[in-house]
Amino acid sequence: MSDITRVGVLGCGLMGSGIAQVAATAGYTTIVRDVAQPILDKAKAGIEKSLAKFVEKGKLQAADRDAVLTRLSFTTTTAELRPCDIVIEAVTEDLEVKNVLWKELDGLCGAGTIFASNTSSLTIAAMAAATKRADRFVGLHFFNPVPLMPLLEVVRTVTTSEETFKRAFAFARSLGKEPVAAKDNSGFIVNLLLVPYLLDAIRALEHGVGSVTDIDKAMQLGCGYPMGPLTLLDFVGLDTTYKIADIMFAEYKEQKYAPPPLLKRMVLAGMYGKKSGKGFYDYSANPPVVSSLGL
Ligand code: NAI
Repeated sequence: MSDITRVGVLGCGLMGSGIAQVAATAGYTTIVRDVAQPILDKAKAGIEKSLAKFVEKGKLQAADRDAVLTRLSFTTTTAELRPCDIVIEAVTEDLEVKNVLWKELDGLCGAGTIFASNTSSLTIAAMAAATKRADRFVGLHFFNPVPLMPLLEVVRTVTTSEETFKRAFAFARSLGKEPVAAKDNSGFIVNLLLVPYLLDAIRALEHGVGSVTDIDKAMQLGCGYPMGPLTLLDFVGLDTTYKIADIMFAEYKEQKYAPPPLLKRMVLAGMYGKKSGKGFYDYSANPPVVSSLGL
């Protein structure tokens, strides 16, 4: 266990709820903040369901599951994160939204509190600069689904102190994750390489190179990937991917990061993937079927 005892999590969508689950499972008192009670209720139900699966598979004792749940609390009030030793932010991929929260928290939390963003594509420096604790600011980039994926990118920006980086790295290990150190470049290691691949899969579909199922099948069977790129996009969230691509394109001005028009159209239509029920696949059917995309 690190010197951290109390963890705050901002945002409990896909990532925040997983991060909260992992922190509470690792023994930390964990408080989660989102904007509305129904979102918190949905996250809590999702965490309970996920923990139940761990119990079913014999990976967690029922008594331990109950203890995890007692360590978790949910709030709509940012001020309740005041006593946290580390705050991990996993709100919508939007610098302005994130920085409003960081500024508010900077005035609330003690000097020892580390701020960590789970951003996929924004620079950590752009958030650290909005606070008076740029030396105590890191990136902690988790992977979806957080309770299952072992990797955690620990990101050091130009202002991060050595002590903060070491504390964050030790904290990452204490969560049972395998940390890697990454520099504060947009996309860090994984998304720098993964995002162009995912966008290329959409471009291949746009150009009629293959169908949704054949593109997915080809990459699964040809490269040994556990799922095809279009399925993966549905899991990541098309809205989030669109924002990530836009930010990375603005940063690098390289065509490979440009969001394809089809991605934009699908986001405009509310087709966010699994979380909205429809993306490249339609999840209202069991098993899911390919969505009609007018191609
Ligand atoms: P999501 O859309 O599932 O969840 C975002 C949550 O933030 C929502 O519950 C929303 O209500 C909440 N939120 C928005 N404004 C807020 C505020 N002012 N205060 C508190 N909560 C607020 O998005 P997701 O996928 O969980 O992404 C969150 C962050 O994690 C983004 O920065 C994203 O780039 C990053 N990320 C996403 C991954 C993915 O596979 N989806 C993987 C790794 C990082």
